[in-house]
Amino acid sequence: MFEHLQKKWNVNGWRLILILITFAVGGSLTGYAGKWVMTTLGIRQTAVYVPLYIIVITILWPMIVLLVSVFTGQFVFFRNYLIKMGRRMSGKFNVTHFPDKSIAMEDLPANDLSNSRKHIAIFASGAGSNAQKIIDHFRQSDSVYISLIVCNKPNAGVIQIAARENIPLLLIEKERFFRGDSYVPELNNYQIDLVVLAGFLWKIPDTLIKAFPERIINIHPALLPKYGGKGMYGQYVHEAVLGAGEVQSGITIHYVDEHYDNGDIIFQTACPILPGDDPEKLAQRVHQLEHLHYPRIVESVIKKL
Ligand code: GRF
Repeated sequence: MFEHLQKKWNVNGWRLILILITFAVGGSLTGYAGKWVMTTLGIRQTAVYVPLYIIVITILWPMIVLLVSVFTGQFVFFRNYLIKMGRRMSGKFNVTHFPDKSIAMEDLPANDLSNSRKHIAIFASGAGSNAQKIIDHFRQSDSVYISLIVCNKPNAGVIQIAARENIPLLLIEKERFFRGDSYVPELNNYQIDLVVLAGFLWKIPDTLIKAFPERIINIHPALLPKYGGKGMYGQYVHEAVLGAGEVQSGITIHYVDEHYDNGDIIFQTACPILPGDDPEKLAQRVHQLEHLHYPRIVESVIKKL
């Protein structure tokens, strides 16, 4: 059970202990405070007492737990925890099932977070393993928030990630993305500072590039400028690399401009091609590099904004 919690909250053993202490102390203090409020208000009849007591402790608990978390050094964790709870209770963010259309702008709740934080939108079309790593990386962050996941495929794995993580999800349509406003109003509504492409297969339209100059980055599973461009994605990249007899491949993280895989390179790192490699084995090795480096490069880029 404790291992499960450690994994779920992405914390080490000591932090888990401090978090559990905060819950325990916060819970007991809430109980005492609730009783004190009831006595002070002079409420004694049992019929009114119980429902009122529940309301009082529901209001007091977040405040008291936050207060205790300051002393246990877990304020950031509890602030994020309470924000998530609020979202879950509002029910607006449950995205386990999707209609075949995008969320309309008026359905998107306004951002409830302070302006001092930087907001990221992750665009993904696939399984979303990079998206998950980035979410994990910033889970406890005080300054960076994954505010939105944008997806163009109603059955993509990343949709489950958005639902599980309670991150608002915007399912987009081709027509509006390429020939309309490219969903810039939604991105602005979420005060997005940086767009992070993580396996997003559509080309980014000019409207979006103009709205986010030098604020859209992508990861490519090869060493650009080789093996990039239209049609070079997924297995096709690795097949081409192996077919050309390269001795190494790797990853490229770059800014996005109006051409496929063309913007300024931010970071590259290589991995060897080993005897007996097939596109799948190479893809796995490259994926490991992506998971290792993309989150921290995203962090370094957003910190400079
Ligand atoms: C990654 O290999 C990335 O380089 C490419 O698409 C893949 C996405 O994988 N652009 P995942 O969905 O993050 O697992």
